[in-house]
Amino acid sequence: MSLTTHRGFTLPSIGLGTYKLRGAAGAEAIANGINSGYTLLDSAYNYENEGTVGEGLRASASGRGNVIVTSKLPGRYQRHDDALTCVQESLYRLNLENIDLYLIHWPNPGQGLYVEAFKALLEARESGLISHVGVCNFLPEHLEAVHDATGEYPEVNQIELNPYFPQTEALAYNSERGIVTQAWSPLRRGGELFSEPVITSAAERLGVSAAEIVLAWHAAIGSLPIPKSATPARQLANLAAVNLELTSDEVAAITALGRPDGRLKDQDPAVYEEF
Ligand SMILES: NC(=O)c1ccc[n+]([C@@H]2O[C@H](COP(=O)([O-])OP(=O)(O)OC[C@H]3O[C@@H](n4cnc5c(N)ncnc54)[C@H](OP(=O)(O)O)[C@@H]3O)[C@@H](O)[C@H]2O)c1
Repeated sequence: MSLTTHRGFTLPSIGLGTYKLRGAAGAEAIANGINSGYTLLDSAYNYENEGTVGEGLRASASGRGNVIVTSKLPGRYQRHDDALTCVQESLYRLNLENIDLYLIHWPNPGQGLYVEAFKALLEARESGLISHVGVCNFLPEHLEAVHDATGEYPEVNQIELNPYFPQTEALAYNSERGIVTQAWSPLRRGGELFSEPVITSAAERLGVSAAEIVLAWHAAIGSLPIPKSATPARQLANLAAVNLELTSDEVAAITALGRPDGRLKDQDPAVYEEF
């Protein structure tokens, strides 16, 4: 299964998160991920690992190949000229000539600059530095503000989404506009979620781990998860998990785990800002 944006950009059903993958061990984990079959990497300027991602790409058997490389614009560089310089710096760090997908990391509405940043990224796309423009953590009001200003929605909205915080309305809102929803911290970094009876019983039925059931649930609801794993066996299991078939009752029961305080931390994009 794959997901396609309103501009015809087709994304795989799962990507590899890279937060905390840095240095030689990080590059090895990323190369291993690509060799295992990942075709989408998620990085960010603020993860300080674009160099590691570039190194992992070069160390992999396919090299740049067909891998979709993602990075993100930090809040402190949302002004027009700063945004364009930041994209250039990301390219230097990755040692690539083009980045496939560049996302605004947080809207930071208090700053009032995310529309300016979006316009700058459209310019970077025009000049070929990046191929696709997306955002993270955008609420409908932020999506409509960039659309009103430019006539265009971002192609991707990467949001916090997991069974405790299923974001059903945001998923529908994005999908109605041809925006692919990527899920960050899709496993909620493990913990109590993996002991939920509705998840462990599905895991038992299919003979897989709780993490794999959570990823199968993402695929079933049309969310593109980007789990981070440095562990080769988990990377492989996660890739395969999006092809598992849950019953509609299992999907509904996992979605029903949602709760208002389901976010990992208290990062509500209406007020939370990151620089
Ligand atoms: N846009 C944003 O604002 C934003 C915010 C946060 C994160 N992100 C992106 O989203 C990515 C994923 O989120 P995340 O790293 O916070 O959390 P996550 O992917 O939900 O969880 C990662 C943790 O789960 C473990 N894990 C992975 N696969 C597993 C499996 N099959 N079984 C058991 N444990 C497993 C990993 O351990 P091992 O590595 O030891 O295997 C790691 O400790 C990040 O890496 C980053 O690229 C974006």
